[in-house]
Amino acid sequence: MADKPNLKDLKNTEYGLEKIFEGAQDFLPLLGTDYVEFYVGNAKQAAHFYKTAFGFQSYAYRGLETGSKDEVSYVLKQDKIRLVLTTPLNSASPINAHLAKHGDGVKVVALWVEDARSAYEETMKRGARSFMEPTVEKDEHGEVVRSGIYTYGETVHVFVERKNYNGTFLPGFKKWESDYNPAPTGLKFIDHMVGNVGWGEMNQWVEWYEKVMGFVNFLSFDDKQITTEYSSLMSKVMSNGNGRIKFPINEPAKGKKKSQIEEYLDFYESPGVQHIAVATDDIVKTVTELRARGIEFLPPPPQAYYDAIPSRLGSHMDFMNEDIAELQKLCILVDADEEGYLLQIFTKPIEDRPTLFFEIIQRMGAKGFGAGNFKALFESIEREQANRGTL
Ligand code: FE2
Repeated sequence: MADKPNLKDLKNTEYGLEKIFEGAQDFLPLLGTDYVEFYVGNAKQAAHFYKTAFGFQSYAYRGLETGSKDEVSYVLKQDKIRLVLTTPLNSASPINAHLAKHGDGVKVVALWVEDARSAYEETMKRGARSFMEPTVEKDEHGEVVRSGIYTYGETVHVFVERKNYNGTFLPGFKKWESDYNPAPTGLKFIDHMVGNVGWGEMNQWVEWYEKVMGFVNFLSFDDKQITTEYSSLMSKVMSNGNGRIKFPINEPAKGKKKSQIEEYLDFYESPGVQHIAVATDDIVKTVTELRARGIEFLPPPPQAYYDAIPSRLGSHMDFMNEDIAELQKLCILVDADEEGYLLQIFTKPIEDRPTLFFEIIQRMGAKGFGAGNFKALFESIEREQANRGTL
């Protein structure tokens, strides 16, 4: 059995997070996540799911009624999070090939920038592969400039400049008014988004984010730290200069059985987005609500995990508001670092292929990614993999 990750290692405290971020080159610069676009088989039904189960609100729409003849998109919003669900309307659309290969999944991680032309030029001259040249879209509410580059697999980053626009979402979309408006579940913003890449490819993508995007690698976990009896993986966390965009990159590592990253790669049939972590201010309330609406989470770790929480949290227990019994009832995980603690939980994959899932996270001072939970988490995932016959 490998050593449990040491919290001191995880925090990289000899540098301090802010200091490392100063090493980032903010030539883009990124203001935040703008939207996440999924290619899905049936956007109308997927939109219903994200509204009903996750509490996203109807926001914008484009389709046949707005003159979009080849594809339809529903935009959903919850606090700062915007999801776009897109489906092709005929067999000629190139989206069909993406769906046939990957199933439903994340195509675009869109980043909000001051200047989409400059973001494109800066990344292209550093070696990016073009997805979309700078394109101006206009309507009566102003104009939006977008450009895009490929990252791992067929996933892309679209740069969105919207400082001269005050319409709903993007030109070409209309406000989506619906009579069906389930209440939000307390999801606030995207905390981080994780990419799974192939064997031996993690460092190449780490270098890509450093060189092309000006990111820094501020946390690393090797296969000795992220391991169970059966499987391992490696992970490096990339951040942009202001720390608003955090992209951990995972690759599989050799173990006795198949790693969850390998399972992902088999079913997504390429690198891609593994999970989207969304922040809440009240994870107990959010998870209670999500469970009531049918979201399924990974099974709980053993009793010993919850018994050990007071000793793992140490002095952070003094300001912990949550009741451990309640966390256990909801299967919420707890981790801590020097600055505080965090609460997190992971859904099961949210489509039929065991690919994309969501994480719900509440940070109470901690800046890590729940490394102290990796072992318990991965053992839960392995029980699920065993059920699927993919371990
Ligand atoms: Fe995560």
